[in-house]
Amino acid sequence: MAGETILVIDDDAAVRTVLTRALMQAGYDVRTGANAAAMWEMAAAGEGDVLITDVVLPDAEAFEVLPRIRKRRPELPVIIMSARNTVMTAIRAAERGAFEYVPKPFDLSEMLDVVRRAMEQRQRGLTEHNGRVGEREERLPLIGRSRAMQEIYRVIARLTQTDLTVMILGESGTGKELVARVLHEYGKRRHGPFIAVNMAAIPRELIESELFGHEKGAFTGAVARHAGCFERARGGTLFLDEIGDMPMEAQTRLLRVLQEGEFTTVGGVRPIRADVRIIAATHRDLKQLIATGQFREDLFYRLNVATVRLPPLRERLEDIPDLVAHFIEEAVSEGLPRKHFTPAALDRLRQHRWPGNVRELENIVRRILAIHAEEEIGPEIVEAELEEFAPAQAEAITGEEGDLSQLSAYAERWLQAHFARHGEDLPPPGLYQRVMREVERPLIAAALAATGGNQVKAAQLLGINRNTLRAHMKALNIDMVKLPR
Ligand SMILES: Nc1ncnc2c1ncn2[C@@H]1O[C@H](COP(=O)(O)OP(=O)(O)OP(=O)(O)O)[C@@H](O)[C@H]1O
Ligand SMILES: [Mg+2]
Repeated sequence: MAGETILVIDDDAAVRTVLTRALMQAGYDVRTGANAAAMWEMAAAGEGDVLITDVVLPDAEAFEVLPRIRKRRPELPVIIMSARNTVMTAIRAAERGAFEYVPKPFDLSEMLDVVRRAMEQRQRGLTEHNGRVGEREERLPLIGRSRAMQEIYRVIARLTQTDLTVMILGESGTGKELVARVLHEYGKRRHGPFIAVNMAAIPRELIESELFGHEKGAFTGAVARHAGCFERARGGTLFLDEIGDMPMEAQTRLLRVLQEGEFTTVGGVRPIRADVRIIAATHRDLKQLIATGQFREDLFYRLNVATVRLPPLRERLEDIPDLVAHFIEEAVSEGLPRKHFTPAALDRLRQHRWPGNVRELENIVRRILAIHAEEEIGPEIVEAELEEFAPAQAEAITGEEGDLSQLSAYAERWLQAHFARHGEDLPPPGLYQRVMREVERPLIAAALAATGGNQVKAAQLLGINRNTLRAHMKALNIDMVKLPR
């Protein structure tokens, strides 16, 4: 790779030395300096094959210069490195056409990898990014500077520059909806609407009409034409939340819409062009739903074009202080009194397993601010709150044979939390069916899985007759064919 030159700009001499040595060992020529203006000038004049630069420099801000360089050297891949490590740094870098954003501190091998990819792209002459420039306020939509979140920010930043269908996976409360909103608000369709629809919250017989709309008189009760989500989200983003709960028939219809790019309303005949970006999310294990016949594999592949997999909070405990500070700010701006969590209190929070993830943390912080009079929150207060509201943890389910009390204890706690979440209001009607469904589904799926899909045996195991089992399977969308044991 003789003759390939990398420009390195950083005001930190240590970074320059380390990078230069590694790049030279990998066979590149290196020009480096701390004087950003001079280095940028050099790049603009045609020197260098790849540019690596820090964001904050003594005499310039890389984001200000980047668009100008992109104009004069559109083929030059620019790698941005930064210790700021926020989602905005990643998004800005992507917006302004950076080739890649690398959070500091970085792994040398990772950096070399990025450089190699940049070289390849340059050789293919593909360096075309839409360097869109627009000022954005610094309020961060996503909090957390952990490694795990850095990775997420990079993926998000890249996805905001595309119109790809995105699947967001992650446990409950990890921020799936928030990420969907960020993808919309910082993406190409941000001037269009963001429409969210939750598959688990709509009665199954209404899902198709909710998604695609219906004509007047299409069914009993359709007294007027109703525009569905696809229509309302036109030009924007359609967020299909809890996609794992979508009924089979609706899945089939959705698949067809995605394949054909158009839809018809229920009772309608004229096809309408679908002009939406789809973002789907679920906390369920879709692979398992596919294996048990509850989710269409072909639909999964249609939706899973790009994946964002959000880490559970217990895998990024170092983000807890930032998150706590963020939730305090939010609560204060809503009129709650400001309080201070002591380091010991934060430590206690870090020891928790967080089965409810960020949402659970948010609730705890808000509760503490609302209930406790003390200005300083110590570990005892945190302890008491964690104990009182601890949702059952999966690991804690060690019940003896025949001991079902843990299941009902969990149900009780879940219901308490559920009502609490709705505050003054009642949850939407149909609670009995929703809760029963959540118990019946794993129960029947487990029975079928344990009997290799043999319905006679599964019915026996469950102690119900086979027709009842069939009826439940139908109602629950469990479309079991056969299962390898
Ligand atoms: N990285 C983050 N920074 C700041 N707030 C966050 C972050 N992640 C989640 N939250 C907050 O936590 C709460 C839960 O997030 P969200 O509703 O997006 O989770 P979810 O993954 O959709 O959960 P569920 O599967 O239960 O629907 C929200 O109030 C959200 O604003
Ligand atoms: Mg959600």
